[in-house]
Amino acid sequence: MKIAVVGTGYVGLVTGTCFAETGNDVTCVDIDAGKVEKLSNGQITIYEPGLEKLFLRNIKEDRLRFTVNLEEGTKDARIIFLALPTPPGDDGSADLRYILGVAEDLGKTMKDYKVIVDKSTVPVGTAEKVHQALAKYYKGEFDVVSNPEFLREGVAVDDFLKPDRVVVGTSSDKAQKIMQELYNPFVRQGNPILFMDERSAELTKYAANSFLATKITFMNEIAQLCERLGADVDMVRRGIGSDERIGKRFLFPGIGYGGSCFPKDVQALVKSADEVNYNFRILNAVMDVNEKQKLHLLQKIKKYFNNSLKGRHFALWGLAFKPNTDDIREAPALYLIDALLKEGATICAYDPEAMNNVMNMIGAKITYAENQYDALKDADALLIATEWNEFRTPNFLKIVTTLKTRVIFDGRNLFDVNAIKELGFYYESVGRAPAIPSNGNHSK
Ligand SMILES: NC(=O)c1ccc[n+]([C@@H]2O[C@H](COP(=O)([O-])OP(=O)(O)OC[C@H]3O[C@@H](n4cnc5c(N)ncnc54)[C@H](O)[C@@H]3O)[C@@H](O)[C@H]2O)c1
Repeated sequence: MKIAVVGTGYVGLVTGTCFAETGNDVTCVDIDAGKVEKLSNGQITIYEPGLEKLFLRNIKEDRLRFTVNLEEGTKDARIIFLALPTPPGDDGSADLRYILGVAEDLGKTMKDYKVIVDKSTVPVGTAEKVHQALAKYYKGEFDVVSNPEFLREGVAVDDFLKPDRVVVGTSSDKAQKIMQELYNPFVRQGNPILFMDERSAELTKYAANSFLATKITFMNEIAQLCERLGADVDMVRRGIGSDERIGKRFLFPGIGYGGSCFPKDVQALVKSADEVNYNFRILNAVMDVNEKQKLHLLQKIKKYFNNSLKGRHFALWGLAFKPNTDDIREAPALYLIDALLKEGATICAYDPEAMNNVMNMIGAKITYAENQYDALKDADALLIATEWNEFRTPNFLKIVTTLKTRVIFDGRNLFDVNAIKELGFYYESVGRAPAIPSNGNHSK
């Protein structure tokens, strides 16, 4: 099948590549000429495990192409996916200008029946708006389908190729058949393609992300209680997670959820609820708690250093909002950096994939290390903001010999509290008692 994907970011590039991988003929369109040039030259523009191999293979097989020209990229396509940004507008609602702008442009050039698919996360009613935007200029037959994307950055290729479910919102039998044919190769193991109306599909995506953000936030509150009541959140997490009704996943406390989706999607759902005079109380609380949780580690650090961080120097491990991605949108590490700099501290950071993106964003406000151990030089403490695997079992001897004092503040609960205490570290994590070396001495 001939497919066009408009918007070649994290979702668009994975979508286009994976559809090409199942034999489709895919053209990806993006407004960013630099990006299109790189991609056309076989240079991948995001870090996503497993993607590059598929991307190169499909370019070589001539099933995957890139262009800046919307008309040229979409004219032969049977299906056009919109994988465009839907950032928060000034009032927190999803900004639909990219989606509706492209819909109008498509209307101006379309000449035959096509299925236009909203892959972006969009509020309820957007399929109708896209329909209207297109119909302003194109009077022929077409369908608009809502097909929200549930991939997780870091495991996006697997999620796309083997989805738990595919949600398709459409009231058109013709579009339903086309979408079924397209997705059949991805659900051969029996996971469902759930057909529903457009509005339910649109809401499903927001409900999923808001539920997950709520689950994380609930655990962050349990962690706060653990710290005050002398319980261990790891034990509580295991204790509740083995109940199948609760499940083991998304129970890890930390320094707040971030990323390009949860913060904006929770906010947009609250806004959608406001617009129909419904106060979504739980989600308002989730946003409030999450804002405070982002500063949880900072409060611990300040307390340890007697409220004075001026002139202190910190090593920071992890910048990406989560491991296995270079995405730093709404990353908790950035909030921590900002707050520490305001307090007069300096920072040397290391992240396996996200350093270039941070350099482009904040430049020389902090320094960057070649590897995780170089970051430790002359630091008063090590701070951990992302749970990359390579941080889980580090060479503690190197940490001891390089840090100025054996002090770690860990926003991701990477280490066993007792083991690290044995090594003579002062160690604070989230929802667990601090490790304080028995002789109280953690200087070198
Ligand atoms: N990133 C995720 O993990 C994820 C997961 C599920 C859903 N989503 C949703 O998918 C959508 C896209 O997210 P993303 O993370 O891929 O965004 P992104 O910012 O990585 O990519 C968007 C791309 O669209 C391009 N673009 C902007 N305007 C354009 C135009 N007029 N014509 C052509 N291209 C244009 C940009 O240059 C960029 O390459 C959002 O609605 C997001 O909420 C994201």
